[in-house]
Amino acid sequence: MDNKEISQAVIGRLPRYFRYLGELKDEGIERISSQELSDLMKVTASQIRQDFNNFGGFGQQGYGYKVEYLYEEIGRILGLEKTHNLIIIGAGNLGQALANYMNFERRGFLFKGIFDKNPALYGKKIRNLEIKPMEEMESFVKQNEIDIAVLTIPKGEAAGVAEKLVQNGIRGIWNFAHVDLTVPKNIQVENVHLSDSLMKLAYNINQYESESAGTPERNP
Ligand code: NAI
Repeated sequence: MDNKEISQAVIGRLPRYFRYLGELKDEGIERISSQELSDLMKVTASQIRQDFNNFGGFGQQGYGYKVEYLYEEIGRILGLEKTHNLIIIGAGNLGQALANYMNFERRGFLFKGIFDKNPALYGKKIRNLEIKPMEEMESFVKQNEIDIAVLTIPKGEAAGVAEKLVQNGIRGIWNFAHVDLTVPKNIQVENVHLSDSLMKLAYNINQYESESAGTPERNP
């Protein structure tokens, strides 16, 4: 199976399947039908079947899906069977909040270091790791085989820092800075904008309210 053939829309839905299946597995549930999964996840059963058909189906007619197998396969497709060494650049509000969120480690994202350019923060410990100066970042990335960097710095700083990360062998950037980064093709960037999600919520509130009021003029 070639993962490259799977559309980004399907890939975008896999983490959610993975999360639900992980919960089912933790509850000791061994098998689930597409209908049951559909009820649980509020996604149509046909969407689930279509999504899973992209990588061979995983299910058997009348038997349902094997939860643990499906969980592991989706994890493998997402590349989660490998661990990833991760650093955070920018130890402000957001950087520290992410560093304190333990759950990434459960998924194999190992928090190895946190860096900032503000000397007032050097030495402060977050989850047992001291905030280090940026001058140490490049050698740290090389020596500790860091493959992912999280950017929680102002947008004007992000391009310069990204360039240094690329030069030192980073493979992926989880970018919270509000700027589109230009990086070589072999570097993956995932942009996160929490406000996009909030705007989607605002849209859905409006949409629901105009539907309930029977307002005719609304977007499809
Ligand atoms: P903050 O001001 O608390 O922290 C920023 C930190 O980055 C500071 O400690 C600062 O010293 C450090 N920094 C600045 N330039 C640096 C550089 N070149 N190298 C290393 N460290 C550097 O800000 P906060 O609230 O943590 O937000 C960080 C960034 O994330 C902001 O640009 C903000 O706009 C963005 N943000 C993005 C969100 C999103 O959903 N994408 C949500 C919240 C914030």
